[in-house]
Amino acid sequence: MAETTRAQGKTNQYGYQSFTLGGFRFERDEYFAQISWPGGNHTAPVDKFLRALMRDVAWNFFYGTVNFDEVFGTTNHYGTVDVYAGLYNAGYRAQNKHHVETFKGEQTRALFQAMLEDWTNADFDPFAAPAETGTAFGAKRGDNFKAVRRQRVVAKRMVGLKDDTPLRNDDNGCPVNRQFKDVDQGEPEIHVEPGFENEVHAFNFFGYLSRSDVTWNPSITSAVKDSLLCPTTEEYMLPIIHGNDRVEWFVQLSDEIHWDIQDRETGAPRARAVMKPGDVSAMPADIRHQGFSPKRAMLLVWENADSTLPELYAQKKLKPNPVDF
Ligand code: PHB
Ligand code: FE
Repeated sequence: MAETTRAQGKTNQYGYQSFTLGGFRFERDEYFAQISWPGGNHTAPVDKFLRALMRDVAWNFFYGTVNFDEVFGTTNHYGTVDVYAGLYNAGYRAQNKHHVETFKGEQTRALFQAMLEDWTNADFDPFAAPAETGTAFGAKRGDNFKAVRRQRVVAKRMVGLKDDTPLRNDDNGCPVNRQFKDVDQGEPEIHVEPGFENEVHAFNFFGYLSRSDVTWNPSITSAVKDSLLCPTTEEYMLPIIHGNDRVEWFVQLSDEIHWDIQDRETGAPRARAVMKPGDVSAMPADIRHQGFSPKRAMLLVWENADSTLPELYAQKKLKPNPVDF
């Protein structure tokens, strides 16, 4: 396993630190992240790179593969992580120009977090919709630790129950998003048998979600064994191209998302899915996908957290599609 090296402390002419991870070197200038490795280099627009990096860090490398773009990304082995260039790019593979190194997950995440913190300026929030944040470009201008160290709210009981996480409202810094002004904010009536007032509860989940201030960031809101329901609000485009290592289901709760679906290994196009409210899709275990949301939309992502799944799919003991029509 290769070595992980922390930030070097020195800054370049634009005020940014450079980072090394094994044979990979990461530098940023006013517009781009510049990545190099033994035998190659790659340039990515820095706003795109930081949006992808934010998700990779916050999701602890997620399920399977996080392609930052067609060249660079990470594959999660749940303990270790592959960092690669060109590994899932048919052109790089054909010319034997791909490069991959394996690291400890925790060290890599710490380095990526340090890079994210150093490269994100005061007015840029990588989780925000582009129309709701300032620019990522230019020379170093302050920090935005509040945004890049954001933690999800953790509830011990159902949100809104006594002594736990309050429901989102206008008074606790959670206004309804500008694109969800039409979402009914009414709350359900609850009629509880005497003695159960502290145990029975209900709330308007569409109202709750309409007040989310982040995009493309699924949050676990119910966990039953390995079944995780993860709603999220989506605007503009999924900042990563996700390569699945298991089947994943989508339920379109509102508005519309357009998905590009490609072969996971090569990126060859496989399908386009235009999902409208009420549509349900199962994304196969051998694809990569990227979503595009012209207007802020509500999406329910249904994940299966069973840790034996990647191996079962890799060994073809399970079919990549869950349903045959
Ligand atoms: C996905 O890769 O399936 C995914 C990731 C983030 C989202 C939605 C879907 O917000
Ligand atoms: Fe996915």
